[in-house]
Amino acid sequence: MNHANPRKIEHQHTDRGYIPVYTTDVVEQPWGSYSKTDHDVWDTLFRRQCKLLPGRACQAFLENVERFGLGDGGIPRFTDLNKLLARTTGWKLVAVEGLLPDDVFFNHLAHRRFPVSWWIRNPEKLDYLSEPDLFHDLFGHVPLLLNPVFADYMQAYGQGGTKAFGIGPEALMNLTRLYWYTVEFGLINTPEGMRTYGSGIVSSRGESIYCLDSPAPNRLGFNLERVMRTRYRIDTFQQTYFVIDSFEQLFEVTKANFTPIYARLKQQTDYAAAEVLIEDRVFTHGTHEGFVSDGDR
Ligand SMILES: [Fe+2]
Repeated sequence: MNHANPRKIEHQHTDRGYIPVYTTDVVEQPWGSYSKTDHDVWDTLFRRQCKLLPGRACQAFLENVERFGLGDGGIPRFTDLNKLLARTTGWKLVAVEGLLPDDVFFNHLAHRRFPVSWWIRNPEKLDYLSEPDLFHDLFGHVPLLLNPVFADYMQAYGQGGTKAFGIGPEALMNLTRLYWYTVEFGLINTPEGMRTYGSGIVSSRGESIYCLDSPAPNRLGFNLERVMRTRYRIDTFQQTYFVIDSFEQLFEVTKANFTPIYARLKQQTDYAAAEVLIEDRVFTHGTHEGFVSDGDR
């Protein structure tokens, strides 16, 4: 059987070029339509990351990969994972065709539903992805949904997203940066040392190594408004990683009313992705080797 592909509705022209648009409906995970190749891709990526991640990913992530049994062989069934989620943090995975519009995505999170693209990348493109697939969404994001504090943070983010969406594009950009630098590319300072928890890192072999071992990027202490003002890159490994002390710290910041923060940030300039400020808590001031200076957003 051939590799299973999602149904793209159309390609939409945006300032980032043509991007695919999918149906925003929740679908059944078409588990029976996965080919042997699809299951093999999952197993290959899973084995590769699990060999790499001990000593790199935080303990909560590693333990929850085990609890879910994500390495039992082949692509997991969402219905199985949902049984454990229902008994623990009350989250639920829903299968979708691909990236969702912001408001739809936020609404899912606010109701403790995590959308997962049901399709998996081709074996010829194990390391390059232009959009998130099942391995990124499931392996990268779902393990930490079993962590009660992180689970609450994700819901609070969804609620905050709905609000920011109503306020306007600048507020939305500020909030998107928070997601980018925490949920996608966050580092955490633990008694055992610096570890990763961001889904974009733990699901990527290259960035799992780079984010901790390379002297090039900055590693800076997390600060909410600082993060919200910092542009990021989607086309390279990150130039700056922000380091939290705990998931509790992350959840605490979402308790603040962001509306006055957005109003304040509107009056201030953004920071470039590679910038280090005098007031930053610096774990590493990167060498910035190989960085390009344009293309932040
Ligand atoms: Fe993601």
